[in-house]
Amino acid sequence: MSDTSRPADTHSGPTILVTGAAGNLGREVVNRLQARGVRVRRLNRRAVDPRPGIESVVGDLTDPTAVRAALVNVDAVFLVWPLLDATPARRLAEELVEAASQVVYLSSTAVDDHNPDQSDPIVEIHADMEALLTDLP
Ligand SMILES: NC(=O)c1ccc[n+]([C@@H]2O[C@H](COP(=O)([O-])OP(=O)(O)OC[C@H]3O[C@@H](n4cnc5c(N)ncnc54)[C@H](OP(=O)(O)O)[C@@H]3O)[C@@H](O)[C@H]2O)c1
Repeated sequence: MSDTSRPADTHSGPTILVTGAAGNLGREVVNRLQARGVRVRRLNRRAVDPRPGIESVVGDLTDPTAVRAALVNVDAVFLVWPLLDATPARRLAEELVEAASQVVYLSSTAVDDHNPDQSDPIVEIHADMEALLTDLP
């Protein structure tokens, strides 16, 4: 993992790690957090253009070493899981809850909490992710 941007820190308060930060939703979350003056660290798979006031790190969500490095001094995590299988997320989830006091997972409103069978495979992944995060000690 390489650090692509470490601007002078002018923020106070918690640091939030935003995963999937180059994606549709992660990008928007970064923008909104920054607008609120929150200290944001972006986690991207690839290096991105530096952005004033935002720290950027490069790493894959399936790489525990990269994730651990991205989590240093992080208070909360905004988590997206764009992969097609939730199984590799177990190790990630353990790292996240160990490092951060709050993990917010971007699920889907299509998840049916009262049905063991979800409506399609993508929704199934979100349901699996919810269960995985909820069941962690
Ligand atoms: N869009 C919606 O309306 C919506 C609604 C409900 C739920 N969701 C869920 O929200 C999640 C994100 O949606 P989105 O529309 O923002 O998706 P997106 O635009 O495809 O963004 C996904 C981001 O995740 C990154 N990524 C993919 N695999 C990665 C990996 N192994 N390690 C690190 N980063 C990785 C991608 O990086 P690259 O840029 O390098 O590809 C991309 O920046 C998905 O799980 C989706 O099911 C989306």
